[in-house]
Order: sequence, then structure tokens, then C-alpha cells
Amino acid sequence: MRGLLVAGNWKMNGDFALANEMIPKLKLSLAKTNNISCMLFPSFIHLDRMIELASDSGVTIGAQNVSTNLSGAYTGEVSLQMLKSVGAKQVLLGHSERRNLYQESDKLIYKKTSLAIENGFHVTFCVGETLEQFEAGHTQTVIASQLSEILARPELLKNITIAYEPVWAIGTGKTATPEQAQAACEFIRMQIAKIDQVQAEQMMILYGGSVNAGNANDLFSQTDIDGGLVGGASLKVEQFLGILECIK
Ligand code: PGA
Repeated sequence: MRGLLVAGNWKMNGDFALANEMIPKLKLSLAKTNNISCMLFPSFIHLDRMIELASDSGVTIGAQNVSTNLSGAYTGEVSLQMLKSVGAKQVLLGHSERRNLYQESDKLIYKKTSLAIENGFHVTFCVGETLEQFEAGHTQTVIASQLSEILARPELLKNITIAYEPVWAIGTGKTATPEQAQAACEFIRMQIAKIDQVQAEQMMILYGGSVNAGNANDLFSQTDIDGGLVGGASLKVEQFLGILECIK
């Protein structure tokens, strides 16, 4: 049983007031279930206090990015060692905003992923096609190419959760249908199964892109979808709780 994971990506939003209000409520909600886990990715500066705040809540707190270097003259960067020093063990990599707005290539994302895992982290690894690629019927080709470097290192897989996030569904209110999301997540699981059947069965695969309390249950009840990566709706306590609580 893989269970379900609901992860909130706060992006460049959120503050301690939101964390203070949200975490105790998530704790109460999680206490009522035994197969749902929850994760939040706040900004770097909120990590330290949020990890402390969430320590006995069942909510895991992770970072949204990390440097490719362990230390040194890299102004503005945050290293794995720094994340480790505040107790973070999770990092989100390959988000389409990092790929598109900050020109992060598959190669760079792979470099961050392998370094993070080699340093004891678990990575939520995002993949997904643009609207143009979707309309051209290239979803599977794009996903396969985004996954190719990590699939060449099967030993990394046990420390990876994959998030399928079609770029056209992120922040647009346009959710993939449960069937579209299932097809992509099934394809991802099949790619892993070609390499490692056991890992394919154990791999958590999330869907992300305009998830809310109205569509989460339909999406998360698909065979190959093990929960969601939630942006906008993770910034409103009632909406995020609503996602946890709509899962049947
Ligand atoms: P959204 O964002 O839920 O606001 O579409 C999802 C994400 O970017 O992870």
C-alpha cells in the first residue's frame, strides 16, 4: 500500500502567520487518518521555524530548491548542508517554474537530484509538458526525456517521489481530467517498471496542477495517482484542509 501524500508548494508566498494557523489544523486532520501524509514546501527563510513548529504534527517540511554546490563562493545560493543544519530532509526539484523561469535544464536538475540523494535527502522530482507539447501529443516523449537521467541511476529511485505537473494546468485553474492525469502517471510508472518492478510499485507518483477540494478525490482515486502537489490551494488553510478531508 503506497498511501496518499498531499504536498503544498508555497512558492514565493506564505509566512509564519499562515504556518501557525495551518500546521495545528493539519495535525488534527492527519490524526484522523492513517494512510495520508502531508508535506509543505515553504521558502528557505521559513524552513527553520516551520520544521520546529511541525515537529510533532505529522507534517513534513521541505525546501523548494537547493544549490548544485556543497559550499563556496556562490552568492545567493543555499546548500544541502545548510538545509541539513535546520533539519530539512526533503527537497522539491525540477518544478516547471525553475525549468522555465530560471532555465534549469534536465542536466542541472539531475545534478541537484543526485547530489541531494547522495547527501541523504528525499527528492520530489517534477515533470510535465507545456500546452504546446500537450497539443502536439508529445506528453509521453517529454516525460520520458525529463526522467531519462534519473532512470539511468536506478539506485536513486527509492529516494524519489515523482510529481506529474502538466505546465498548462499549473496556476491556470485548468486541471487535467482524472483520465489524462492517470494516463501520464501510469506511463511514468511503466517507465520505472522497465527498470525496477519493485520500485515501480512502491514509487509515490503525485499529480499537480490546479488541484482543489473539488477535484482532488477524483484525481487521487486513480490507480497510479498517489496524491497531489498543490500550489494555490495550499495557501488557504480551509482549502488545503479541504483537500485532505475530501479524500475518501
Ligand atoms: P497550482 O500549482 O496548484 O497553483 O496549479 C501547482 C504547482 O505549481 O505545484
